[in-house]
Parts: sequence; C-alpha cells; structure tokens
Amino acid sequence: MNEEDSFLYDTFPQEFLWGVATSAFQCEGGTKAGGRGVSIWDTFCLDPSNILDKSNADVTSDSYHKYQEDIKLIKELGVNFYRFSISWARIIPDPTGSGEVNSAGVQYYNNLIDGLLAIGVMPLVTLYHFDLPQTIEDKGGFLNESVLVDCFKKYADVCFSEFGDRVKYWITFNEPKEIATLGYGNGCLAPGIKSPFDGVYQAAHNLIKAHASVWHLYDHSYRNSQNGKIFISLSSNFFMPKDANCPEDVEAVELAHQFSIGWFAHPIFIDGDYPPIMKNKIAEISKIEGREKSRLPEFTEEEKKFIKGTSDFLGYNYYTSRLVSVPDSDMPTDIDMSLFFLYVVPQGIRGILNWLKNEYNSVAVFMTENGFSDSSGTVDDPERVQFFKSHINELLKAVKIDGCNVVAYTAWTLLDNFEWIFGYTCRFGLVSVDFDTEEKCRTPKKSFYFYSKVIKDNGFPAISE
Ligand code: NOJ
Repeated sequence: MNEEDSFLYDTFPQEFLWGVATSAFQCEGGTKAGGRGVSIWDTFCLDPSNILDKSNADVTSDSYHKYQEDIKLIKELGVNFYRFSISWARIIPDPTGSGEVNSAGVQYYNNLIDGLLAIGVMPLVTLYHFDLPQTIEDKGGFLNESVLVDCFKKYADVCFSEFGDRVKYWITFNEPKEIATLGYGNGCLAPGIKSPFDGVYQAAHNLIKAHASVWHLYDHSYRNSQNGKIFISLSSNFFMPKDANCPEDVEAVELAHQFSIGWFAHPIFIDGDYPPIMKNKIAEISKIEGREKSRLPEFTEEEKKFIKGTSDFLGYNYYTSRLVSVPDSDMPTDIDMSLFFLYVVPQGIRGILNWLKNEYNSVAVFMTENGFSDSSGTVDDPERVQFFKSHINELLKAVKIDGCNVVAYTAWTLLDNFEWIFGYTCRFGLVSVDFDTEEKCRTPKKSFYFYSKVIKDNGFPAISE
C-alpha cells in the first residue's frame, strides 16, 4: 500500500487544540540578565565536554530579549496555544536561601503572557522543564524529598498567584522519566549524577510526590477562582514486538511500556502505586542481588491516596518507536538519548495512543511534543514537512478511526535552539535561527508554513469539502 492509499482525508473535532512548544533553558538565553539565579544546566555547561559542540545556552535563540519577535511568529503560525516553560531560577533565584521572588523575572513572564493573550493565543506553562535551580541541587536535588517538595510547592504557588489569572493550562513536570534516568541514573543530562537504579527510582519517587503536592495545591487553593487545568507530561518510545507471534516478545513489550510509562502513569491515573509487574520485577532482581529490600521505594497507603487522580490530562511527548525482542533486550528501561536513534515511525503515535486508551480508561491525552531534528537547520526542510504530515495523519486516524480521546497536538519546537547535550548540532525548529549573528535572525522554514496550513484546515480535509 502506498502512502496516498492509506492517507486519511478528514478533519479533527472542532474543539481540537493546536500548539507549538519551547522550553526556557533551550531558547531564553539571558542567563545572567534580570536577576536570574543559576540552574543545573548553567553548571553542567561549564564543563564543555558535557556538550557535543562545547556550546552553552547563555544566549541561544535569545527569547529573553526577542520574545516579541517570537510572538509575531506564533501569531503567523496560527496556533491556539503556546507551550513555554518558566525558568524557576528566574522567579526564585535562591530557593533554599532567601527564597525571595525576583520581580524582573515575574515581569518577563507577565509580558510574554500578555503578549500572547493580545494575539488570542493561550499560554500553556510548564513549571519544570529540566532546569532545577542549582541551590536545590546543592542540597541533593530530586534525591532530597523534603527540599524538593517544599521548594517546588513554594515556586508553584508564586506562579499560580502571579500568572494564574491568565494561564489556564499548567504542566508540573516535563518528562519525569528522563529527569530521573538521565539526570540521576546514567548522568548524561544535568545534574550528571550517576546512580543507576537507586538514584533513579528515588528521584522518580520524590518527583511523583512533588507533582501530586502541586496538583493538590492548585486543586485546593486556585482551581475554583482560576478555573484551569493542571497535568504532567510523560514521554516514551512506542514499543512493538520484533516477532508478534513470539509470546516472550509480546510480554517484553508490555514490560517496556510499564517501565517507561506505567512507572508514572499507574500511580497517577490508576491507584497511587507503581505497576504490579514493575514492583515484582524489581523486587525479584533486588533479591537476587542479595538486598533486603526492593530498590523500588514504596508509597504509604496515605501517599497512594494523595497521588491517585492528580492529573487533569495525560500529557505525552512522542518522538519514536522501538522493536523489542527478548534476546536483544532484557533491560527494559530506556535510558538512551541519542538523537541518531530517533527513527521516524509515524504509526507509533497511533500505536501509543491506543495503548494509553486501553491502559488508562480512555484518559484525555494532551500531546505536548512531537517533532523532527536535522543537523543543518535549513529553511527548505522537506523531511520535517513529511514528518509532520505523516504523524498528524496517524494522530487523526487514532482520533477518528480508533476513538482515542486526544484534546491537543503540540509541535516541538518553535525555534532552533539549544538541544541539551547536543548543543546546536540538532535543529528541531519550525523557524531557523541564525546563531552566528547577534540579532539571532529568525526565518520560518517550509515546515512552518505546512503546519500553519494544517492548523487552518484543522487536519486534512478531502478536496471536495
Ligand atoms: C523532549 C524534551 O522535552 C525537549 O526539551 C527536547 O528538546 C526534545 N525532547 C527533543 O529532544
């Protein structure tokens, strides 16, 4: 079957939302401007060997100074919402010390939010997108439950009270699995802690509690007056059996999904606790290793009640898929972050949405990222156009044919920007940025106009419509 045969000409439901995303550390720059404190990524970049091209994000696409240009681009793109993250250290530069709120930081986000509302675009704010204030890390970061939970609540409280009159969509944490596995497991992302398994599970455990605390804070103190939604944004590959007729491969696929999605989604969307298959597997391995207790920490009954039901949507970032087979992989956690492994598998977006629907009782899914990188950043980007076309079409099939409950789609990312350990060697933007000029000139790519048309058409209407 060729692509045209299987292509679905149809439109999304009328209330479907379209967006584009960025994150503070990746695009703001201005790391020393306006009283901003230091984040773990500033520190991580000080060692050039941590970043492929030995770069840093001190300036990057300079959205701290150029946000008005970004707003013009966002308007031209025609999205319903703009997903950006707040730099925690810009709002509270020293959370474990003075804890003072930085008014210049608040002003920056007020300007951005007001600018978006003036063009009719809703702000969707991520509270945490990988950039922990350094002073929290100095006290153990995600491994220190009381400091993390306490500081995250205080920071969220400031954001809700300063911005919540205008912000109606909040994300607590972006990609908790990556925060735990890459930040505290193999150490390939900031803060670069290498504590495979013990650190990983503890960081994730504390993160889930911090998430639930902030959801309850919003639910209890702000929801009535501000009337918004608050959720967490997960990510995982979609896994498929290498041999669909091999029961072991099929079983391994389930294990992989539970270890990478269920780890967070099962406690939050099902019963406040980790997936049974995950608990059993880790307990089994811990025993073989001669440990008295499982490496996976336990929630108390009270904590389970507190965690269950704490997300208004299931936020999801989809990039790629994997074939799983037992002899190839008896290690189901997915802690590899090379972009060279971002195979383009559009069917995976449909596959994962169906898995989420079946596993979590038709939960409403908010797609918070999906995008394509190249190394050139050229304005003529047919591969990215093809990526968006095929993925959005598979998403349409998930919604229209399979009945998946998807409320929104978000393209990653508005601008070429700092791609973490890959620096500027990977470009995901719909808009190219000339990093060699002081102006950081922005030029929309062909994919920008393609996505804009999809939004305008609300999908791919049949020619006769
Ligand atoms: C997901 C992360 O949220 C984002 O920061 C990153 O740039 C993209 N993946 C692409 O790697």
